[in-house]
Amino acid sequence: MLSILLAFIVIALVTYLSLKPLINNLFYSVPHEPEYIHSYIPYIGFGFEMFKDPIGFIGSLHAKYGKAFVIYLTSKRWVYLSDEQTYLKALKSSDLSIDKFFMDFLANALDVSRQSVTDEGLHHIQMKQFHRYLAGDDLNILNKRVYDSLIESMKLDAKIIQDDQIKTANLFDLFGELLLYAGAEGLYGHSFVTEQRNTSPNFFKLFQEFEQAFKLSVFRIPFRSILYKSTFQNRLEFVKRFSSLQLNNGESKLINSTEKLYRSDKYKHLFTQYDIGALQATALFAGVANTAPLSCWAVVDLLLHPEALEAVKQELKEKIPSSSSELIYEKETLANLKILESCIHESIRRVFNIISVREAIRNTTIECFDKTKIGLRKGDVLIYSGFIKHFDPNLFGPNPYEYEYDRFVKKINQPTVPSIMLFGCGTHMCPGRFWAINEIKILVALIIQHMDIQFINMTEKDKDECRKKLPYDYSKFVASGGPKKGYKHKFDIKYSYKNFDME
Ligand code: HEM
Repeated sequence: MLSILLAFIVIALVTYLSLKPLINNLFYSVPHEPEYIHSYIPYIGFGFEMFKDPIGFIGSLHAKYGKAFVIYLTSKRWVYLSDEQTYLKALKSSDLSIDKFFMDFLANALDVSRQSVTDEGLHHIQMKQFHRYLAGDDLNILNKRVYDSLIESMKLDAKIIQDDQIKTANLFDLFGELLLYAGAEGLYGHSFVTEQRNTSPNFFKLFQEFEQAFKLSVFRIPFRSILYKSTFQNRLEFVKRFSSLQLNNGESKLINSTEKLYRSDKYKHLFTQYDIGALQATALFAGVANTAPLSCWAVVDLLLHPEALEAVKQELKEKIPSSSSELIYEKETLANLKILESCIHESIRRVFNIISVREAIRNTTIECFDKTKIGLRKGDVLIYSGFIKHFDPNLFGPNPYEYEYDRFVKKINQPTVPSIMLFGCGTHMCPGRFWAINEIKILVALIIQHMDIQFINMTEKDKDECRKKLPYDYSKFVASGGPKKGYKHKFDIKYSYKNFDME
């Protein structure tokens, strides 16, 4: 009897949850709402499609329903919009905000106390610090630290392989780890990184677990801390490394100022030790989770397209004389590497499912450029799917996926290059964008100067397939992906070092 009752309750609950969006439509809809596309899967809605291929899935819905439609995902209504001009105009509306969305996102993702991320005043100061200390003179300091760290990692690795000269590794693991240390050196300083290099468990492994826990928590996976016990233990271990940062120990101005803010008399009551560690760890996560995998794809594309690699080598020779390798980290020099920049933008364009989001803080209406209207309910998330534009055949040719390494280099007497959106837009555009592109440039320049790399598991057919479409993993969702399941070994490499003074 009890089991029948339980089964009945479960069926009733699942039915209610799968019909909830339709029931809400009856009571809460506002005028001019875009078409709602229903999924009967409760809570996660179209989550599976989004994990597999968001670009293909959202692209097919735009093709069918036009520039705007609504889907249900993780118990929220997501209003997709592919009209860039209208989105940019909508950003100016005081009815839309990123703050609440961002704060909820962080509280969920990190399992920190809500008060540590929901104080609006504190949040604004923090974002200002990010925008201020990731540019200008501070950017040169960050770049130099990235350069120093990459050189140190390469030399350490080169020392280990001196005897047999050639080593094998997975490209994404090798450069992912190098960039993690480089990003950490930029933000937290050399002694922090030296300590991490020498402490077990391995910092890179803990970072990967932090990223996994971030995703599980964002999606509120039930019983996650029991089902993924070791992941959450490792997250705690990772967070502890940031919980009591020593100040004035070589950290960046960004980390110095955020740490002082968290511990200031005005705000310290909002934080536990775990909250502070988790938020500091998140600064590193923001700095590396996209930069590292996207750098790796940029390197993969260069290895797959010898003409692009040759052009970049030539550019480096012309712009950075071999006698002055320190110029590699100066932002003015890096800004002159236009071909390399174009290669990086082209690689990111081909894989990154860029979105920009704002949440409606009250019921509102957006007027589009074509004079149509879009009604939003309070709590709706308006999402601009920039990647739709990145694959528009009218802008990028009949085969928009094709890799054209110099696509973004301005050419005389040729039509202007279409703009792409890699780092969001408006006042919340990514503050780390200059540093991220500089880091990727420094990595590629150092690889070209100091490494010989070859894929070991890729046939010519595999290479051709990768040139047509990279096997990108979209399931990470909160970060950029590496190769999708079953493809990682294709990116195993053998490599050796050259031109190093190993004193
Ligand atoms: C290739 C690497 C990167 C990509 C593709 C990327 C992309 C983005 C995107 C799309 C946004 C949202 C913008 C919007 O809402 O319109 C964003 C925001 C942000 N990014 Fe990045 N990012 C990268 C690297 C970095 C780095 C290196 C840092 C710094 C350590 C960073 C810190 C942030 C922060 C703090 C925000 C929130 C900004 C705000 O709300 O005002 N990102 N990023």
